[in-house]
Amino acid sequence: MQLQRPVLPRIQGLVPSPPPLPGFISRVEGGKRDEDLILPINDSLSATLDTEHLCAKTTVRASPEFKENKIWLNGREESMDNPRLQNCLKEIKKRSQLSKDMESWKIHICSENNFPTAAGLASSAAGYACLAAALAKLYRVEGDISGIARAGSGSACRSVYGGFVRWYKGSDPTGIDSIAKPIAPASHWPDMRILVLVVNDSKKKVSSAIGMKRTLLTSEFLTYKAEKIIPQRIEQIQEAILKRDFETFAEHTMRDSNEMHAACLAAYPPCIYMNDTSHLIVELMHQYNSTSDRTKVAYSFDAGPNATLFLLEKDVAELLGILDHYLPPAVDNNLEYRKGISIEVTSPSQS
Ligand code: ADP
Ligand code: CO
Repeated sequence: MQLQRPVLPRIQGLVPSPPPLPGFISRVEGGKRDEDLILPINDSLSATLDTEHLCAKTTVRASPEFKENKIWLNGREESMDNPRLQNCLKEIKKRSQLSKDMESWKIHICSENNFPTAAGLASSAAGYACLAAALAKLYRVEGDISGIARAGSGSACRSVYGGFVRWYKGSDPTGIDSIAKPIAPASHWPDMRILVLVVNDSKKKVSSAIGMKRTLLTSEFLTYKAEKIIPQRIEQIQEAILKRDFETFAEHTMRDSNEMHAACLAAYPPCIYMNDTSHLIVELMHQYNSTSDRTKVAYSFDAGPNATLFLLEKDVAELLGILDHYLPPAVDNNLEYRKGISIEVTSPSQS
């Protein structure tokens, strides 16, 4: 498919060239305790993918000639009247080191994801992490930018770092201590591999933010999980990562995914993200593990039907054989990703 790129007017003044930032796959999720500040009800953990496979690329330009702020997402102009986007701009301007004159210049944002947007593959995390980095460069903001990314999308605060990252929920009402910190670089677990199975690449019916809000308001399971299950689990999963203990990591990852979807199903009306193919993948992975001498694979589903599989390098070939047999990819000329079940082999960023 040919992407329609907006023609940006010639740049006057600042020309940032933000580096592409990693895409993102997360697990151990929850809801938010403050919607405006985007403060979560629990800590969370994610692994950041390398930029080669799933990533967002964002360019931001400022010019005294621009009449208004504009944004293009995947080649299409979108409304700037988006509170999350406005939050991000507000946060960045608070810390801007530009002159007042330049600060008042309008900006044009152009971003592209090389993977399905709003389909449960965490495009909001990759997108806002990338935007925060691009804006920080443009406005000469130094230091930690995870708070700026969080203003756009909570999970984006983790995606500004590579490797394994923890988002501490913090306790301050202003959110000042609700920040992400890396717990280990990707090189810590070099044989960890992540496979993304794209079950459905269309836009989800209920956005993550709305679904999570509804779940928090109407599903007691979510609060129970945040208070009674996650505090202990997050320590166990962090320890498993630090020890490179795949079996423990795998069990917690799968349990957490199942419990999150159970909590979403207990919302009223229910939020249903997984479909029949997702459930088939879950069953297949458990059967595969139970007929193996050890746990070889873990699955995790974000707010969408698509599966993220975690496994070790030595087991990739065998698992790909199994997937090709039971869930063959649909043939499609689109080289970016294959429709139906598609497979991207990725490993966390080595940076
Ligand atoms: P996902 O599962 O893909 O994260 P969400 O519902 O959480 O889905 O978020 C999707 C929204 O995130 C999009 O509708 C858009 O507003 C925003 N978004 C996605 N990618 C980008 C990007 N590259 N730049 C800016 N915003 C983005
Ligand atoms: Co999202």
